[in-house]
Amino acid sequence: MSKKQDSFSKIQNLSKNITLLSSIYMLLEWDLETYMPEEAIDARSDQMELLATLIHKQKTAPAFKKALSNLIDLSTGSMVQENTSLTEQAAAREWRREYLQEAKLPSSFVKQFAKITAKALPAWADSKKNANFASFAPHLEKIVTLSKKKAKLLGFEEHPYDALLDLYEPGLTVKTLTPLFAELKVFLIELLKEIQKNKKPIPLIKGLFSQEKQMQVGATLLKVMGFCTKASRLDISSHPFCTAVHPKDTRMTTRIDFNSPISSLSSVIHEAGHGLYHRNLPIEHYGTPLCEAASYGVDESQSRLWETIIGKSPAFCKFIYPKLQEVFPENLSNLSLEEYYQALNHVEASEIRVEADEVTYSLHIILRFEIEKALMEGSLSIKDVPKVWNQKMQESLGITPSSDKTGCLQDIHWAMGGIGYFPTYALGNLLAAQLFSTFEKSHLDWEEKIANGNLLFLEEWLKENIHKHGKIYTPSELITKATGKPLSAKPYMHYLKTKYSKLYS
Ligand code: CO
Repeated sequence: MSKKQDSFSKIQNLSKNITLLSSIYMLLEWDLETYMPEEAIDARSDQMELLATLIHKQKTAPAFKKALSNLIDLSTGSMVQENTSLTEQAAAREWRREYLQEAKLPSSFVKQFAKITAKALPAWADSKKNANFASFAPHLEKIVTLSKKKAKLLGFEEHPYDALLDLYEPGLTVKTLTPLFAELKVFLIELLKEIQKNKKPIPLIKGLFSQEKQMQVGATLLKVMGFCTKASRLDISSHPFCTAVHPKDTRMTTRIDFNSPISSLSSVIHEAGHGLYHRNLPIEHYGTPLCEAASYGVDESQSRLWETIIGKSPAFCKFIYPKLQEVFPENLSNLSLEEYYQALNHVEASEIRVEADEVTYSLHIILRFEIEKALMEGSLSIKDVPKVWNQKMQESLGITPSSDKTGCLQDIHWAMGGIGYFPTYALGNLLAAQLFSTFEKSHLDWEEKIANGNLLFLEEWLKENIHKHGKIYTPSELITKATGKPLSAKPYMHYLKTKYSKLYS
């Protein structure tokens, strides 16, 4: 065995163990959210904490560092071995990236961060319940202080927020996001105003929709999207998610709203979008970072593309609505296809991000981005968060939350210490539209096919252009390779304008 192969296979073995341990962690998490008996929670936290410590130890072990240093120069990032392949270089780049991220944060810091968030989570829940920001404020203060420290430890060139963004979206910076979001914000506010001028009543969906039948529709949809029950599952949880344990083990969940089938259907198609991505990752690289999603934003682009651009399109409604009517004849026989389509795409400024429609959704994200950025800069003090939140809600959506419960306390992310995560949601929307506009050019008959229940040709295109590359390319390389252009807000704005001009004349 040559020296090159030797050092590569050494690190590959170490990496595979880390991947396997991480997949066990995912299973514990999946079980916690689905079937775990309530009283097992303390035992489960112990199991997860132990496993997380083991994973961190292996990721930062001297043996791992040594094997990695034989492959790539840790300080410069240039390859040590000659004649390495493109995939070996990419794997080395990602191993180095992850190693440096882990190694730069001392275990004392990681422990302190975990301790602070463990206390912040119940405090947030309590403070949200009582709509009392003041009781959460000291926790948020600590989280922001620690996040600033984290940014310093990780290192950044221009803005401390860049260090946090980079954790979720490699290479993304405040400098790139600021003009992108500024352009999008002006456009969305204008579009929302136009829509509000032509307000329409929302068609009413009446009656009760049983869990059993909703799950039946979900299973049918997954089948049409190419999932087989031998390699995937659909279950119920309070927050829908997709856990990709392995390309051959995709676990998706949905949530049941007994008053409408829309929420569950949207969750199934969203999570299936994540599922298809993970199922189609290059399995030959399993155990290395190359068999992972390119970034959170790219991952979210897959789910949003299926959920919104496809799932909320007239063509898809034409396909799925008769099936819904068949399953729920007593509830839906009086609701026309056109009314269903309108109910699905109703636009209205509202307080809650997770319930927001396509037009207003990104405005919620931009608001959080502006606040997080200001907190990291130190230009906004914690006590002013509710006031600034409400001002910004008024400025972009024209509404003021009735209390902090439905205002700045609505999301769990800050209590979890996840500052820097929100922008990936908006990126997902932008990228979904950019990918779809490229796809559409070579598939002019897509609507006809989708209306007939043929969804696999889209999966094939996404597999070829995104899925099968895993992490071989950086997110920006991948976007340019797939669409011929760097990330832009233009296709998204064009998509919304075209769709909603038709809907709201
Ligand atoms: Co998602």
